[in-house]
Amino acid sequence: MVDSGAEVNLETIVSLCKRRGFVFQSSEIYGGLASSWDFGPLGVEMVRNIKDHWWKTMVWSRNDMVGLDAAIFMHPDAWRASGHVDNFSDPLVECKDCRRRFREDHLDGPRCPECNGKLSEARQFNMMFKTFMGPIEEQATTVYLRPETAQGIFVNFNNVVTATRKRLPFGIAQIGKAFRNEITTGNFIFRNREFEMLEIEYFVKPGEDEQVHQQWMDDCIKWYTDLGIDRDRLRLRAHEDNELSHYAKATYDIEYRYPWGWGEIMGIANRTDFDLEAHTEASGQALSYFDPESNEHIVPYVIEPSAGIGRAVMTFLIDAYAEEEAPTASGKTETRVLLKLHPDLAPVKVAVLPLSRNEKLAPLAQRVFETVQRSGWIKGYVQFDDTQSIGRRYRRQDEVGTPLCVTVDFDSLDDDAVTIRERDTMNQVRVSIDSLVDELVRKLEQSG
Ligand code: GAP
Repeated sequence: MVDSGAEVNLETIVSLCKRRGFVFQSSEIYGGLASSWDFGPLGVEMVRNIKDHWWKTMVWSRNDMVGLDAAIFMHPDAWRASGHVDNFSDPLVECKDCRRRFREDHLDGPRCPECNGKLSEARQFNMMFKTFMGPIEEQATTVYLRPETAQGIFVNFNNVVTATRKRLPFGIAQIGKAFRNEITTGNFIFRNREFEMLEIEYFVKPGEDEQVHQQWMDDCIKWYTDLGIDRDRLRLRAHEDNELSHYAKATYDIEYRYPWGWGEIMGIANRTDFDLEAHTEASGQALSYFDPESNEHIVPYVIEPSAGIGRAVMTFLIDAYAEEEAPTASGKTETRVLLKLHPDLAPVKVAVLPLSRNEKLAPLAQRVFETVQRSGWIKGYVQFDDTQSIGRRYRRQDEVGTPLCVTVDFDSLDDDAVTIRERDTMNQVRVSIDSLVDELVRKLEQSG
């Protein structure tokens, strides 16, 4: 029995994700592409929910944040200036026997973990993907697929300040894809070569950086726990000097206790004035801020909360997974699998389930579904399902974390009422169809 995600094994999550349409292997019919994954119909809803919640919390609920959506391709000089061309690399070792390649810092011992062969000396392997821009390959410019969204924010610093007249401290948020030619990938959607990021570059006066760094750590932990993550399975870990990125003065990872051990969900770095200074020097354009209080131009320091969306999806799924003994209609018990997802994250918010496909019930069930779906008050996906027995449909909805089911039965034809069934408690209440949407909204808010 699994009470919480700590005990669930990864295979169970991978299988649920495929069976129910959260995540599919990329190009599966061709045998798949290593470490590439596609979000299916329910995964895509969850990704949207995560992005929406993050944007609502980090941008719309604050007065010191604005958004940006920069292009993936940037001028190649930007990547030279940022230090990524020279420094964005991992130590690669190769097994002299089986020729497999590994990240040296991910190995437990001095021999090949696959065949115990001798390993080569480590060499630095740059993780940026390169491609060519222009129609004739020989004359085309080499461009990089961005390995972080951050640089698009730094190079737009002056544009944003001029356009928004923001005063320090303020931040710029961005959601977008990033690409890294990782030496080792794995653990499902934990480490891939293409992934999407939630990033914030928060600009502060030098000297205020350390206190603001601490505040962002608290705010980010709160974001995960407000969305239901168990606080006991989160910890902050400071980077050792030898792990720090070339741009960082200090970095803390928020780690989650996964079934295979502690792993990073997100990082919160103090990037100092490294990036703005580097782009100023390389471009000849001063990226600075005029401080009206001191009448001076200053180069702000930057605190950077940065999270991967795939890791967030995986963490929320693992944390929400539970198995319980539940009674069946025939009086026996069976194992109920459920995802205790926060309603804001649940891919299906409400499922409308007619008791049967009976032709008398069908028009009313359809009317109830359209009332809920078109009300505009349920912020997300509303599903209609009239296949299989009602017990099985409840289980199917539990397994994907649907917080509320609405059952239309034969009594509904007479009393114009339906039953709302709650996922976690399995409690059922009868409500009039007139007040159904209000009740659903109230219950979704209450359980959030
Ligand atoms: N701009 C800062 C930065 O890129 P990072 O720690 O390298 O920092 C931030 O990455 C977050 O992005 C990580 O905490 C993780 O959630 C996610 N991430 C990084 N590499 C990833 C990969 N290969 N696959 C999936 N997610 C990744």
